[in-house]
Amino acid sequence: MAIDLRSDTVTQPSPGMRSAIANAVVGDDVYGDDPTVNSLEERVASLFGHEAALFCPTGSLANQLAIRTLVKPGEELLVETRSHIVRAELGAAATFSGITTRTWPAADGLLRAQDPLAIAHEDAGPYLVSTKAIAVENTHNFGGGTVQPIAEIEQLSSAAHQRGIAMHLDGARIWNAHIASAVPLAQYGKHFDTISVCLSKGLGAPVGSLMISTKARVSEARIWRKRYGAGMRQVGILAAAGHYALDHNIERLAEDHARAQRIAQALTTVHPSLVDAKKVETNIVGLDLSEIGISAAELTARCKVDGLWISALGPHYARLVTHLDIDDAQCDQAIEILKRALVAK
Ligand SMILES: Cc1ncc(COP(=O)(O)O)c(C=O)c1O
Repeated sequence: MAIDLRSDTVTQPSPGMRSAIANAVVGDDVYGDDPTVNSLEERVASLFGHEAALFCPTGSLANQLAIRTLVKPGEELLVETRSHIVRAELGAAATFSGITTRTWPAADGLLRAQDPLAIAHEDAGPYLVSTKAIAVENTHNFGGGTVQPIAEIEQLSSAAHQRGIAMHLDGARIWNAHIASAVPLAQYGKHFDTISVCLSKGLGAPVGSLMISTKARVSEARIWRKRYGAGMRQVGILAAAGHYALDHNIERLAEDHARAQRIAQALTTVHPSLVDAKKVETNIVGLDLSEIGISAAELTARCKVDGLWISALGPHYARLVTHLDIDDAQCDQAIEILKRALVAK
């Protein structure tokens, strides 16, 4: 069996999760009749101190439903340059919602409140695009799984709200941020008007994300979810997997973080420029190959021959992600394969 470190989305539902799926009590969720979906929505909203939540098939949809409740067509959302919303949702904000985006760059994706505040233009009159919302990704995927400093979030949220600008959290991996930083989920939650979270990444559910906000925004998002064709019926079978994930798989993320740290430390012995282990805060290890003389595509191909799957995300940038289907032995094997692949001529 290959060791698959391409992403934390590659996990298989565990026997316990499959049993929760099999035993789920369900109903037609388009009629609001699915008790397992309803309880998951209430549970997740309350974890973040919000009024309501909406079960969605993907994190991309949860992001898009959220931001369209904050920003009207022709208005602007500010996002970090490498954030998922602007790099990996295929222009959805523009295509579906007429939202324009403007970006600021941040080293390792790490938020500095002053950066978006410096480019925000909340009331640009008839001359320029007006900024209506700012999105923050936590943890930051393409930044290397970095955890956004809570002090910067607080400062940004307070200044943005004073200027009438709303805040969205792309919290696909907020669970990892919470475990790494010990900041309570509700403390993150209170700084944002809308939040998206995923159960299908580090938490190991096969499908499932939630859009979280006020009752009014969630009602609006429910209409748009149906309009987009994502009103689902007896989807409690998936919500049951979500409940199981929340019950069993949050605290254990610390193990994924420790394994990612182990991989990072082992690889710095090959070449110090490959990865800075101090920056590996969660389950993502980004490898900078620019000084190694091997492309990400070549490294990925060499590893694959030896049974290790990793992602090439740029010409000289490869990514490894630890998750609940990777144990210590596989982690050690991955290190050996990577070391061989990195030094091979
Ligand atoms: C930070 C972030 N946000 C959103 C998403 C979107 O999730 P999905 O693939 O479920 O649409 C991802 C997916 O990897 C992600 O990494």
